[in-house]
Amino acid sequence: MLIDHFHNQNKTHKPYTEELRSVLNLKNTREAFDEITSWKGYEVTPLLSLEEIASKINVKKIYYKDESSRFGLGSFKALGGTYGVLKFLYDVLKKEIGSMVSLEDIRTGKYRKIVSKYTVATATDGNHGRSVAFGANLFGCKCQIYIHSEVSKGRQEAMERLNANVIRVNGNYDESVNICKSESNLNNWHIISDTSYPGYTKYPKDIMAGYNIMSEEISNQLEKKEIPSHIILQGGVGSFPAAICSYFWEKYHENNIKFVIVESEHAPCLIQSAKKGEMISINIQKETMMAGLSCGEPSLLGWKILEKGADDFVTISDRSIPTMMRLLSNHKPSIEAGESSVAGLAALIDITENDEIAKKIGINSESVILLFGTEGATDPEIYHSIIQAG
Ligand SMILES: Cc1ncc(COP(=O)(O)O)c(C=O)c1O
Repeated sequence: MLIDHFHNQNKTHKPYTEELRSVLNLKNTREAFDEITSWKGYEVTPLLSLEEIASKINVKKIYYKDESSRFGLGSFKALGGTYGVLKFLYDVLKKEIGSMVSLEDIRTGKYRKIVSKYTVATATDGNHGRSVAFGANLFGCKCQIYIHSEVSKGRQEAMERLNANVIRVNGNYDESVNICKSESNLNNWHIISDTSYPGYTKYPKDIMAGYNIMSEEISNQLEKKEIPSHIILQGGVGSFPAAICSYFWEKYHENNIKFVIVESEHAPCLIQSAKKGEMISINIQKETMMAGLSCGEPSLLGWKILEKGADDFVTISDRSIPTMMRLLSNHKPSIEAGESSVAGLAALIDITENDEIAKKIGINSESVILLFGTEGATDPEIYHSIIQAG
């Protein structure tokens, strides 16, 4: 069910601005693309067409970028945190031994002894931490992870299997971020966060550039196909939707693509910021089952892009999430989509069921929609219990 809708008054219709280019641009994405596509296990993820659903809800096309297989980690986050760890190690090695260091040398273990002295740290609801742990394990540094009280045991164990030291704190995601910051200061650990805040923006930029591997792939996959009229993007802190918005805004400005941001009704920090006309945080009173979206504090850089780039913000309830997961599981071919993954599809269906809002957002029978299936069964036990309950 659609809970809230807000049309962004601050949206600009101008080409991607110089100011935002200093946050994220196509060149950053290209550099990340050249690096990440050279990693072992890299494969382009599928861009599926959900034809039956499109015809049922009377839109022209629905594309679904399926990230469930990304690097065997089950979510698009594999592209960001891992790249952030690599860029961090590059920076510290350059300081320690000079400018001859290359990303390839780090990747292939040339400086493993020096690298092993460093500890990277992050707070996470699961997926970003798994990506940072994967990077630390791959490149040979230590990894410290903070999770909040509601992160599932399965997600915790997935990070521990990658040799991360995982600490569960009392409280919600934002509290785990704060404890991670203070403990890292005390212990000289290095935060590789997917969210940015005043004084901490460097690695979140790299992480966002990593996410845009998906956009580069989609851009290639869309060749000779129609460019989407609408992109629906699920928001937690906003780094992911901002990265995708930035790419398509810069590259396809002429196409006037509409960006719709979807959040949980329990974690509406982006829509509330849009309503207020400035970035604000909210207190999370209840955890949504879309664990990846349960964030009360927007990313500083993410917000910078979304406040000018997003057209509409919506919030949804958890109620339709299990149904959406089963709908995709029963799709031919079957699609493994986790709780946060189906937020875009849930929002799209909710929008098409509300004539007034569909009209405001401009979704109709001519619309070509791009959705991101941002995760697969990142906690297999929860995933299977939801699918089997149907
Ligand atoms: C599966 C999934 N989808 C979407 C998001 C939202 O990304 P962001 O927090 O960058 O807005 C997350 C964040 O953790 C996630 O794990």
